Amino acid sequence: MAWKVGGAIALLLVLFGMAGTAAVGPEADRAVSRQAYRVPAEIPFPDDNPYTPAKAELGRRLFFDPILSGDYSRACVSCHVPDLGWADGRARALSRHDGVMDLRTPTLLNLAWQERLGWDGKFRDLETVAFLPITAAGNMNLSTVEALRRLTADASYAKAFADAFADPEITKDRVEDALATFERLIVSGPTPFDRWIAGDETAIDTAAKRGFDLFNGKARCAACHSGWSFTDGSFHDIGTAKGADIGRGRFFPNSPALLYAFKTPGLRSVAERAPYMHDGSLPTLEAVVDLYDRGGIERPSRSPDIRPLGLSAREKADLLAFLRTLSTKSGTVPAMAELPPIAPRPSAAR
Ligand code: HEC
Ligand code: HEC
Repeated sequence: MAWKVGGAIALLLVLFGMAGTAAVGPEADRAVSRQAYRVPAEIPFPDDNPYTPAKAELGRRLFFDPILSGDYSRACVSCHVPDLGWADGRARALSRHDGVMDLRTPTLLNLAWQERLGWDGKFRDLETVAFLPITAAGNMNLSTVEALRRLTADASYAKAFADAFADPEITKDRVEDALATFERLIVSGPTPFDRWIAGDETAIDTAAKRGFDLFNGKARCAACHSGWSFTDGSFHDIGTAKGADIGRGRFFPNSPALLYAFKTPGLRSVAERAPYMHDGSLPTLEAVVDLYDRGGIERPSRSPDIRPLGLSAREKADLLAFLRTLSTKSGTVPAMAELPPIAPRPSAAR
């Protein structure tokens, strides 16, 4: 799959016409479902922060550089780890203070297409999120002033900003734009599922094909995990959360349906990202499927698409087989092998 970058905003699913397909019945239904999961041909970039190679390269360097944490101990990549599906494999992110944060680190895969970010949707776009972990005391713990001072004092950064913005000044906005540009390049590589969608019947086995039908049919997963990256970008109560964190409900106290509503995560590479859910409460994909089969906690906020499913052991295994076809072992980001080396930094006193 060749990703084209540099196009303007619009990015459209290439839907190959189904005209001429004569099949009827379940096979035809499956063919229609398959078309809905074709990957887009281009990554969308906003008009006010268009892609340039120099900006992306600068963003990549910043993403991996502990210069952006107070004691030079953390970078974005400390928690968004490419080999762990761009998450960190922990139930909840490690706080710099003792203990953990309230939330699990989400994947950064395919966020270029997402309109709202954060488990509860509190972030508007990738630019808005970029500086927050840097200044958060429990996270990277570096003031904006000090971050900009450090970068400005480094001649190689001055050059990199000049290349990226045609001007050497280093500002918070430019750091955000560069990080966001890099993050938009974090897209899934081609999976066995994609080869199947493209017509290779041997790319996934029959259990996974039955799982795909369940996903789109009896198990109703596609009601929320829709489209090629398997998310509707929306928020739902799936009947699992019960703690103090009421998710999106906090912003909409008059919408009972948003109580305990969290963002639908995309499911690409999901098998590499255990544990699961906003609070890391489910250790395995098996546990996730069991939860959906039970239907979660019955309460007014629970989505109408969640209810006991009555899946047999074989159906559960089929669903799992399907979910595992959404993984690829490599190619998650262009030119990962050419990461800029992280220069040694003074180990500042804590
Ligand atoms: C200590 C671990 C940690 C570090 C370091 C970290 N993040 Fe995160 N990141 C998280 C957690 C936890 C969340 C979920 C926050 C929320 O939903 O409120 C998150 C959420 C995000 C999101 C939103 C993703 C989504 O699916 O909505 C983006 C984008 C992001 N981080 C980018 C970054 C960038 C850029 C950096 C470096 C400047 C960074 N993160 C550093 C843990 C971390
Ligand atoms: C009503 C919408 C909805 C339906 C239907 C639904 N999901 Fe989800 N799914 C979500 C939401 C929302 C979350 C995140 C919940 C949380 O973090 O507490 C989620 C989380 C997940 C996760 C964990 C992903 C991660 O990164 O943590 C998996 C796996 C998953 N769903 C698979 C499925 C499967 C399989 C089905 C069908 C049996 C299904 N979902 C049906 C909305 C839905």
